[in-house]
Amino acid sequence: MPRPLRIAPSILASNFARLGDEVRDVVAAGADWVHLDVMDGHFVPNITFGPDVVKALRPLTDATFDCHLMIAPADPYLEAFAKAGCDSITVHAEAGPHLHRSLQTIRNLGKRAGVAINPATPEATIAYLLDTVDLVLVMTVNPGFGGQTLIAPTLDKIRRVRALVGDRPIDIEVDGGITEATIASAAEAGANVFVAGSAIYGGGSPDAYRTAISSLRARAESGRG
Ligand code: DX5
Ligand code: ZN
Repeated sequence: MPRPLRIAPSILASNFARLGDEVRDVVAAGADWVHLDVMDGHFVPNITFGPDVVKALRPLTDATFDCHLMIAPADPYLEAFAKAGCDSITVHAEAGPHLHRSLQTIRNLGKRAGVAINPATPEATIAYLLDTVDLVLVMTVNPGFGGQTLIAPTLDKIRRVRALVGDRPIDIEVDGGITEATIASAAEAGANVFVAGSAIYGGGSPDAYRTAISSLRARAESGRG
């Protein structure tokens, strides 16, 4: 049974001056999950927001908050993000020496545990974690910024992750450069959760968000065959 297809707009590409409305609008436009990119200016060369912003957004929607932590270390902040209302918390494999412990901590906090791997990180990194994760995030760009172009060899990595995961109930998520031109290839390779920032928020209006989400969904469905 294929995992459900999810479109997860990244608020990184939204208008931060209207953040609450941007979250509500994208959910009303058909988003399945809301993707929250947390950056620390250390693990990645950009800074975004922390748990207090997530907490402020939480009452606005029941949609799944899919939190992508691009921070190192991550462990000291996991509880704060869990309490802020994240439903899933994804840590980077490259962000710390005790990845298995980080994932266990997330599950012990009652949240879905995700592991992200950068374009240069081989899929073998997750081979011994498969009973500890609910989601594998294959980065299709180098993390830090929206609006980049998908790095083609990561498609092959998605395929390999798909094979490693097998029948386990693990979501395979892709993030970076997901557009109408690339989403079908990512779906065909085995991803079922699709993060998109500029391809959705770039439209600039709720009507454009709806059009973009349905078109991305249709192309992903066609890629899945
Ligand atoms: C990149 C972030 C992404 C980013 C994707 O570091 O993790 O979630 O928002 O943006 P687009 O879809 O514009 O490539
Ligand atoms: Zn992300």
